[in-house]
Amino acid sequence: KLAEMHGLKRGRLRLAVITTAQYFAPTILGQFAKRYPDIELSLEVSNFDRVLQRLANNDDDLYIIGHVPERLTDIAVYPFAPNPLVVMASRDHPLVGQRNIPIERLEQETFLMREPGSGIREATLKLFQEHGISPTVRMELGSNEAIKQAVIGGLGIAVLSLHTLSAEGAGGPVALLDVEHFPIHRQWHIVHPRQKVLSVVAQTFLDFAIQDEARVRGQVEDLLAAFKAQAS
Ligand code: PGA
Repeated sequence: KLAEMHGLKRGRLRLAVITTAQYFAPTILGQFAKRYPDIELSLEVSNFDRVLQRLANNDDDLYIIGHVPERLTDIAVYPFAPNPLVVMASRDHPLVGQRNIPIERLEQETFLMREPGSGIREATLKLFQEHGISPTVRMELGSNEAIKQAVIGGLGIAVLSLHTLSAEGAGGPVALLDVEHFPIHRQWHIVHPRQKVLSVVAQTFLDFAIQDEARVRGQVEDLLAAFKAQAS
């Protein structure tokens, strides 16, 4: 026990997360840092492809990803809070307020799309492909935040994680479109190579994060409910 505490005191935690996890991971890290003030923390935020690369290189202690590819069999997986992908538009977009918009209708819209290597991009294109549609992509942007600002600016509509709206809430400048087959229901996963023996610090953080899951889940559910209430 004493040795564990010692390990914790001097330890270091390296976390690599996909871009959308940047909207909740820092809060968990902040609470963790308050409890264990002497632990050194590093947080790497990048897209799905790059996080998978870091996982393959064993660069970090723990990883948070949006979905677990089937080919990844040699990892330990801890499912985390939901990550719904929603269609965003500016408040004055003509489709705001319409119910059950057919997915084909999106072909008449211009899209702002994440860069190749993004998990959100992949999930969005897969859904479009399943329904045989190919909406026009006006711009590719490498950041969720940049896309959100471009949506607000009226440059187009976009599919992003609902979590990107956690600061502004349902009353902000972004509206959700009620399009068939959305939200795409996704979930976060905390993962590490199965063979990897976690450090005391990493194990402590993992337990800490899992304990905080209900709070993060509650935030997402409340936000979705707030948008739904607005639409009715
Ligand atoms: P991305 O990942 O940042 O690569 O789009 C997000 C996700 O997979 O949900």
